[in-house]
Amino acid sequence: MIYDFDKIVDRRNSGSYKWDGMKRLFGRDDLLPFWVADMDFATPKPVTDAFKQRLEHPVFGYKARGESYCRAILKWLAVRHGWVVKREWLTFCPPGVVQSIHMLVNLLSEPGDEIILQTPAYNPLINVVTGNNRKLLRNELKLTGNRYEIDFDDLTRKISGKTRLMILCSPHNPSGRVWKEDELGKLTDICIDNNIKIISDEIHADFVYKGHRHIPLGSLSDKARNNAITCLSAGKTFNISGLQQAVLVIPDEATRHLFEEARDVAQINLDNIFSEVATEAAYTHCGEWLDQLITYLQCNVEYLSDYLGKNLPEVNVIKPEGTYLVWLDMRELGKSSREINDLLVNRAGVALYEGKEFGEKREGFFRMNIACPRTLLSDGLKRISDALKNY
Ligand SMILES: Cc1ncc(COP(=O)(O)O)c(C=O)c1O
Repeated sequence: MIYDFDKIVDRRNSGSYKWDGMKRLFGRDDLLPFWVADMDFATPKPVTDAFKQRLEHPVFGYKARGESYCRAILKWLAVRHGWVVKREWLTFCPPGVVQSIHMLVNLLSEPGDEIILQTPAYNPLINVVTGNNRKLLRNELKLTGNRYEIDFDDLTRKISGKTRLMILCSPHNPSGRVWKEDELGKLTDICIDNNIKIISDEIHADFVYKGHRHIPLGSLSDKARNNAITCLSAGKTFNISGLQQAVLVIPDEATRHLFEEARDVAQINLDNIFSEVATEAAYTHCGEWLDQLITYLQCNVEYLSDYLGKNLPEVNVIKPEGTYLVWLDMRELGKSSREINDLLVNRAGVALYEGKEFGEKREGFFRMNIACPRTLLSDGLKRISDALKNY
């Protein structure tokens, strides 16, 4: 079956944060949105069919976690990512990945402790560090040409006796890097040598482009597995983030129990009925849909890169190896982020995330979400290049 990702789904007035929630950040709500990370594609049919089937039963009381749901997750990890995970390593935190990391930070470190993040970073990951009174230890990624690399020297230099955790984003948002085996191995060695646990946020794991492979940190080696806490979700992959869920893989028993105890105290163990229904259906029936989607997204990346290369060559496109997010280096335009953002919003009529959403010192950088039908993308790119070229 061929899936039609060109089809426009009108999301305005559907209660969409991306389409109906722009006013707070952009001051107006009539923009073409390329900001927050959800997709403008319909969730695949097996998922909506599963919803319909569940709706046939008219009671929506508390949900017991289904073993078939767990089996679907384990199979997905084994088949798509080559990672054989034991059932008992799986644990759940329905509110989501960021909520899970927030809890882990509080459980595994003390106020004043240092937590490593590779910057630029997805802002909520910065917030769970600084907002919990932990010290952010920035391991700035090095931009070489149009590719980001890990600065291992900086990392080893900065680690101190107060460094407790690293929050790894793999694949990395916003740079789009898909970390290689040797990079993950080196990170693991450095962290284990310094008694630092790694929380690996792998929410973008399913979006990896040709020539690259996502390696779950916990699958790397025995020692990596025992030191890793992996956070996963089908939210991004199947465009069901509004249902809220997180699946964690915590092989180390003591850490898993610590997490589960805290989660149970907060009474956030029981799943949302529909997130479980959706995830099980998606992991069981939608692998082919995802393969075709990734091909479509890769074409969107190429389209963007060609378009800007021809029409706005001052913009350096950091081509993603994974994720549907493109990090754009606009510094050569010679304008401040504020000026560029003003042109994007008020001349082009588009909403992109400004670099400052990914930490300090991001002047001239913007992030564009390309998970939309190509006609929307090409409309957006034309607006962007016309607005930035002419002013
Ligand atoms: C790296 C990363 N982690 C977590 C999230 C959000 O996860 P959740 O909605 O499950 O908290 C996002 C969403 O964009 C993300 O990019």
